[in-house]
Amino acid sequence: MAKEIKTIGVLTSGGDAPGMNAAIRAVVREALVKGLKVKGIKRGYAGLLQEEIIDMEARSVSDTIQRGGTILQTARCMEFVTEEGQKKGAEICKKHGIDGVIVIGGDGSFKGAQKLAALGINTIALPGTIDLDIACTEYTIGFDTAVNTAMEAIDKVRDTSTSHERCSIIEVMGRGAGYIALWTGIANGAEDILLPERYDYDEQRLVNNIISNKKRGKQHHIIINAEGIGHSASMARRIEAATGVETRATILGHMQRGGSPTCKDRVYASIMGALAVDLLCQGKSNRVVGYRHGDFVDFDIDEALAMKKEISEYQFEVCENLSK
Ligand code: ADP
Ligand code: F6P
Repeated sequence: MAKEIKTIGVLTSGGDAPGMNAAIRAVVREALVKGLKVKGIKRGYAGLLQEEIIDMEARSVSDTIQRGGTILQTARCMEFVTEEGQKKGAEICKKHGIDGVIVIGGDGSFKGAQKLAALGINTIALPGTIDLDIACTEYTIGFDTAVNTAMEAIDKVRDTSTSHERCSIIEVMGRGAGYIALWTGIANGAEDILLPERYDYDEQRLVNNIISNKKRGKQHHIIINAEGIGHSASMARRIEAATGVETRATILGHMQRGGSPTCKDRVYASIMGALAVDLLCQGKSNRVVGYRHGDFVDFDIDEALAMKKEISEYQFEVCENLSK
């Protein structure tokens, strides 16, 4: 028989993402409507192990839907990767009467949710990361805001790049994932995009591209470089020396993780937060909420973690072709 859930906990873990507050708000309010008690677990799994657990009421999430970051704070916690840490976490949940936990984070955080589920605490995970690098879902909380923030910043760099007829290397976030680079590449009309999933470190190809684009009358050359490749400043110096074209590097950095969430991030995060509560009420556990083919769906966490996300070859080619 499915376990009856009376009290749920909610935490945010890993890198923060705009829209996490909208998800927390939805979890709290949906749970209260369903007659459940809600506890906020601060600072991810680190806060769980430190018993930083607070009662949450409807007013605890007032005035938060429009705010970036996470009101529960977030952390990375090595202790929770260990078996002892996970057992301690499950015991602390039991001590506080928490029968179900909603984890908002990336696939590292999902592994923590998987471990808690195996120890008898029902868990539902929500994909919260600006990187869009979770295979089971076409949407992750925060990507839309982050990519729009990056796009607006790149437009500004492009203005000055065109005025000075320069090459600009703009580094966007994504240590292991090139989705922000791919999307801004298309949205900002970049001449080259360098993605961790497929860059071959052939700088001569970039040099040749810059020279031939100059000949074809291009007034700037925008290279979007993903953080995972990095080294934008030294790359700029080498490219300038090889092409004779003035080259500047701009690293956008953590500004991409902050700011007021877009409408899409508020709406999708709200729906996902409410759905997570409803899944717990149905007795489900070890599930991750995703968005696929126009619908909000849920997957087994083990299956979700086994899926692999590829960068679309076609979209990469479109980006290249449209910047000619
Ligand atoms: P993200 O959730 O954004 O992918 P991380 O990979 O840093 O971010 O993971 C966030 C946290 O999730 C880690 O600091 C750790 O506490 C927990 N975590 C990651 N991997 C595991 C694991 N294998 N088992 C249990 N917890 C994990
Ligand atoms: O996972 C989100 C992300 O912003 C990645 O794009 C980036 O590589 C990483 O987090 C940066 O992490 P930190 O905040 O620890 O510098």
